[in-house]
Amino acid sequence: MNRADRIKNGVCPQLAAEEKPVISGTLLSDKTGQAHIIELIGVNKSFGDIRVMQDITFYIRSNEFLTLLGPSGCGKTTTLRILGGFEQPDSGTVTFEGRDLLVIPAHQRELNTVFQRYALFPHLNVEENVAFGLQIKKIPPPEIKQRVSQMLRLVKLDGYETRSIDQLSGGQMQRVAIARALVNLPKVLLLDEPLGALDLKMRKEMQIELKQMQRELGITFVYVTHDQEEALTMSDSVIVMSEGIIQQIGSPLDIYNEPRNAFVADFIGESNIISGCMREDFRVRIGDKWFPCVDRRKADEEVDVVIRPEDIELVAPADHLINGRVASTTFKGVHYEMIVEAYGLEWQVHSTDHKAEGSDVGLNFGADDIHIMVKSAFSPENNNSEKIKSCKQREEGGE
Ligand SMILES: Nc1ncnc2c1ncn2[C@@H]1O[C@H](COP(=O)(O)OP(=O)(O)O)[C@@H](O)[C@H]1O
Ligand SMILES: [Mg+2]
Repeated sequence: MNRADRIKNGVCPQLAAEEKPVISGTLLSDKTGQAHIIELIGVNKSFGDIRVMQDITFYIRSNEFLTLLGPSGCGKTTTLRILGGFEQPDSGTVTFEGRDLLVIPAHQRELNTVFQRYALFPHLNVEENVAFGLQIKKIPPPEIKQRVSQMLRLVKLDGYETRSIDQLSGGQMQRVAIARALVNLPKVLLLDEPLGALDLKMRKEMQIELKQMQRELGITFVYVTHDQEEALTMSDSVIVMSEGIIQQIGSPLDIYNEPRNAFVADFIGESNIISGCMREDFRVRIGDKWFPCVDRRKADEEVDVVIRPEDIELVAPADHLINGRVASTTFKGVHYEMIVEAYGLEWQVHSTDHKAEGSDVGLNFGADDIHIMVKSAFSPENNNSEKIKSCKQREEGGE
């Protein structure tokens, strides 16, 4: 199937969601009018029996901050390594500005990579590390000096030029690695969990700085992380992956507010995922009650329903509500985290109102707070939710 056919048939989930994809010249652009700098179409990759990438199709817009997000082992690094030229796919195409990328050797690609482990030269100082690539390219020394000092200013390391690498903190080393990659002025910067080794405070600071750098330089960033908050904070687009398969592509708001299935809902933030059934458009049954919702679906379609803990209000029990009992209450600073038992399920509720353990309560939520999702391998009845949660906990604990 060629590219146009794939797009027409909606194989590319991003384009399927858009009304009229436009093919202009060799470069594809979409309704935002922005060109696609990179396109992957039908990429497959296996290591032995493990299918690490399964029919991966997506595009990256010029100058965007795109994040590949998913639990450890879902194929994020492999995707990045294919872009960087360190790995070849078994099948599929990858284009860069409309030309076949896979035939271009790694060192000639207009991409640079920042790895999780800093990979700096320990015997060179800060300035020499950043200058190294430019010296290899035989750039005139005055230009090297000017570009290196510009990059060190950008990563807030001016004044550290002659420091040796072993006198730097983890955060500073990663800044050197970023400066060293950016000094080549690549069109695309690939970043593989670059903040993974930093402590939480430093990570948060660097997230904001990285986003600022990306905007300032107008370079396309392809960022890999397993941290959902990081992905939501920094990205223009997020691709959620699980076991080599793309689960959803969208803006951070789309992914959070309109998760496509239970995997995405569970992986991105806290959520209550319950089996439900549509009666008709805009009406869904949860347990033995009917609720108004804002989605259209076939009558009698079995669905998954997601309700975020912060969208549930605890009120007095009433006939039209789901009624239950508060099983636990934990004070979290800004809000209380409560577990309410109802319908044999444990509902997570976040609220600034305190309800004591043992109280009988009604769960109140509006049509806008109910999100309808397709049934999938991750639906509650498949017991996969625990699996996703344990993945998430493992990631949060830093493995
Ligand atoms: N060179 C390799 N040889 C064999 N298996 C590999 C190789 N690289 C990655 N894998 C396997 O492929 C899967 C995906 O790996 P990876 O892309 O690194 O995932 P992620 O970056 O999302 O954690 C994992 O099961 C990993 O063990
Ligand atoms: Mg990885």
